[in-house]
Amino acid sequence: PPVPLFTVPMPLIPVARPVSTDGGVDTYEVTTRKVTKEILPGTRSELLTYDGQFPGATIKARRGRPVVIRQRNGLDVPISRHLHGGSVQQDSDGGPMDTVDPGGERVYTYANKQPHASLWYHDHAHHQEAENVYRGLHGSYLLSDEAEDALPLPKDAYDVVIQISDARFDATGRLQYSMGDWARNTLLVNGAPYPYFEVAARKYRLRFANTSNMRFFELRLADGGDLTQIGSDGGLLPRPHTTKSVYLSSGERADVVIDFSRYPVGTQVVLQNTVAWGPAEQVGQVMRFDVTHTADDPSSVPSVLRTLPPLPAPTGSRTVVLRMDEDGRAAPKAYLDDKVYDPQRVDAFVRHGASEIWTVTNANTTIPHNFHMHLVQFRVIERDGKAPGPAESGLKDTVVLQPGETVRLQATFDTYAGTYVYHCHMLDHSAMGMMATMKIA
Ligand code: C2O
Ligand code: CU
Repeated sequence: PPVPLFTVPMPLIPVARPVSTDGGVDTYEVTTRKVTKEILPGTRSELLTYDGQFPGATIKARRGRPVVIRQRNGLDVPISRHLHGGSVQQDSDGGPMDTVDPGGERVYTYANKQPHASLWYHDHAHHQEAENVYRGLHGSYLLSDEAEDALPLPKDAYDVVIQISDARFDATGRLQYSMGDWARNTLLVNGAPYPYFEVAARKYRLRFANTSNMRFFELRLADGGDLTQIGSDGGLLPRPHTTKSVYLSSGERADVVIDFSRYPVGTQVVLQNTVAWGPAEQVGQVMRFDVTHTADDPSSVPSVLRTLPPLPAPTGSRTVVLRMDEDGRAAPKAYLDDKVYDPQRVDAFVRHGASEIWTVTNANTTIPHNFHMHLVQFRVIERDGKAPGPAESGLKDTVVLQPGETVRLQATFDTYAGTYVYHCHMLDHSAMGMMATMKIA
């Protein structure tokens, strides 16, 4: 049944509360649980959740202040909790094979030594991650620091997480999952279908995250109004960038400031998606901003947001090729460097302290992919031989690769040693094997 547009309010994702802040460490206790909840009006869907929340509660972390998560698994499938974009020691990275069995418990420690960033957490249990994330095992992790605080950007109630994902419901309105499903044509924003969000006529910082399994978005305002992108995966951009649209492949984030003071109270502006996988009536509109009242606005967007350290001289280089069988078989194989992921194999040996250029190519001519590395925030050096655009001028952990595209990036491995994965973040693809292992030593 068609899902009505803009009839439910956008849920604001609650902030998680630590059970203890002793010793300058924020400790959280979280249990994964199966719940049934109304997503489409009038029907209940089975969800996999962190503590019953869909999406999971937002963790607010502070640079230099560790977070400890005591994670219990109340599901009947294994889980692995991964902090996407985080610089995390190996035993807390939540890699694909490092799973917590049903009924088990695991303690994850995040030192939070990296600069501010809009990170997110999600399940990563190999072969299970795609469905686990789709059914609800994901949430935001906002890491702040003094450099970010010092800027007059919109804060508190005007700094809002917006997680966008897609879903497929059956005729009775129940959430359906199957691998490689291109018919997930219902869009959810913070877990609600096509919501409206009542805003004041002032500036907001909107922290967009594409938490979809495979869907990409190009977001724009229906009136063609300006978006000011201020951040990407790894925190603020060096300078704000005014644009008409923001492109997000699955797993990517963009912090965007929209100044709603340019609209008279009473205006409604739809946030559209122009990447057309599926019927435009269903996937062309995401949510609506309703300007309902006025409010003071002491915030502003400075012309310089941060200074990134200069890139060190590269110490080496390597190539990565992503490929997937294009013959349309029901269960296609997905490859990284022509190999299917094998957890016993190390694919890249990296010297600790190295700063490497990785040239990543999507060898498919019709299928898009993207590329994500654990542990590091990298810099995009070149996209198809050209300088990257301003949206890729900051720190990144995930980059889109359109069919045939090549991206050169530079990653510096000077934090933790250990074994970590890199993969396509279309989760159905990584589950099918488009993933590999690097060992930093
Ligand atoms: Cu967000 Cu290895 O993933
Ligand atoms: Cu892929």
